[in-house]
Amino acid sequence: MIHKLPLARLGVVGGGQLARMLAPACNAHNVSLTILDPEPLCPAGQVSSHQIEGALHDPAALEALCDDSDIITFDLEDVGADILMTLSNRGKKMVPSPKAVQLIQNKFKQKKHFQTYEIPTSPFIGLSEAADFSTVQAFGLPCVQKANIGGYDGRGVHVIRSKEDWSKRLRVPTFIEEFVPNSIELAVMVACRASGEMVSYDPVEMVVNPKLNLLDYLLAPARIDLETAKKAQLLAEQTVRSFGTAGLFGVEFFLTGEGDLLVNEIAPRAHNSGHHTIEACVTSQFENQLRACLDLPLGSTKLRGHALTINLVGAEGFSGAPMIDGLDALCELEDVHVHLYGKSHCRPGRKMGHVTLIGVDSEMLISRLQSFQNRLTIRGEYPL
Ligand SMILES: Nc1ncnc2c1ncn2[C@@H]1O[C@H](COP(=O)(O)OP(=O)(O)OP(=O)(O)O)[C@@H](O)[C@H]1O
Ligand SMILES: [Mg+2]
Repeated sequence: MIHKLPLARLGVVGGGQLARMLAPACNAHNVSLTILDPEPLCPAGQVSSHQIEGALHDPAALEALCDDSDIITFDLEDVGADILMTLSNRGKKMVPSPKAVQLIQNKFKQKKHFQTYEIPTSPFIGLSEAADFSTVQAFGLPCVQKANIGGYDGRGVHVIRSKEDWSKRLRVPTFIEEFVPNSIELAVMVACRASGEMVSYDPVEMVVNPKLNLLDYLLAPARIDLETAKKAQLLAEQTVRSFGTAGLFGVEFFLTGEGDLLVNEIAPRAHNSGHHTIEACVTSQFENQLRACLDLPLGSTKLRGHALTINLVGAEGFSGAPMIDGLDALCELEDVHVHLYGKSHCRPGRKMGHVTLIGVDSEMLISRLQSFQNRLTIRGEYPL
C-alpha cells in the first residue's frame, strides 16, 4: 500500500500528559498533532504542532479541531461526546468511536454494559436520591459508592463501611458496588485496529500502599502465574471487543483471593499503567495508539525486561510553581527514565510526572526504588 506523506493530521481532545507522550510517536511518523485544551500551553500543547484553546465540551472548539484534523483521538473521556457523535456522523474519523467514549464516560453505564456482555464485574446497583442507609445495608457492607460521571484518580470513589461513612457520601448521581477485599489490582493495555487486529500487553500490577491507600508503584509484568496472566489478557481483549471500535484501551481488574478476575473499569485511551511500555516494550502504548488511529499493523507488545513505574505526585502541604528535589541522585542510576509533564502548577496529589526503572526482576527494582524514593519529591513553591 502506498501512503502519502505526511501520513495524517491527528487531533487530540484534551492536552494532558497522555497526549504529550503521544507526540514523540507522531513526530516519528510524520504525523502533525493538534491539541484542543482550554489551558494555554498545556502539557501536550507545549510539544504539538498547534493548540486550539477551547473547552472540551464546546461545539465550536470541537468543530475547529475536526476542521484541522483527519483523525480524532482522546486524552481523557470527559469530553463532549454528543457533539463528537454528530461530527463523526458527518464523516470525521474518530478512534475510538465517540459512541464508545460516551458509554465509558458513565461508570454506571459501563457496569451495565459489562453485565450485558457477561464480563465478570463486582455486583452493583444504582442509588436513587431516595436511598438511605438501610439501602446500602441491605446491599451489604462494606461497599463502594462511585460517581456515575466525572470521577478520576480516585475522586468520585467513596468506601462505605459505617453509618458515618454514609453521612459523608457523594452527593451526585452514583451507584454502589460490592467491595472486593484483599485483591491484587491488575491492568492490561489493549490496542485494536479497525480490521479487528488486536494486541494486548502483559498484565501490570498496581501496588497500593495499604497505610495511605494510594498507588505506590506499578510492576510489569505482574507477579502472577502465567495462566492467570493469559486469562487477564483474554478477558481484556473480550472486554475491548464488546465496545466494537478501534483504539487503545486500559482495562483495570481485581484479582480476588479466590483467583477470580473481575473487570473494574475500562479507559478508552492511553493509561497510567502503560507508561512503562515507552522504555520496557518493543512498541509503546502511544505508538500502538497512533497505529490504531492510522489503521497500521500493530506493533509487538513484548517486554524487554522487568519494569517498575512510580508516579511523581505533588507533595502535601505545598502549592504553586513546581520544584523537584532528588533528580540528580536519580539520574546517576542506570536504566532510570524520568518523565516530567510540564504542568505549570503543582498541588498536593497532582500527577506531575513519572519515573520508570528497568531491570532483570521485580525484587531488584523494588530495592532500587527504596534507595531513592524518600529523597525524591516534587512540590509547589509555597507552603499551604
Ligand atoms: N469494588 C471495589 N472494591 C475494592 N476496592 C475498590 C473497588 N472499586 C474501587 N476500589 C479502589 O479504588 C480505586 C479507584 O477506583 P476506580 O479505579 O474505580 O476509580 P478511578 O477514579 O477511575 O481511579 P483511577 O483514575 O485511579 O483509575 C481502585 O484502584 C481500588 O483501589
Ligand atoms: Mg481506576
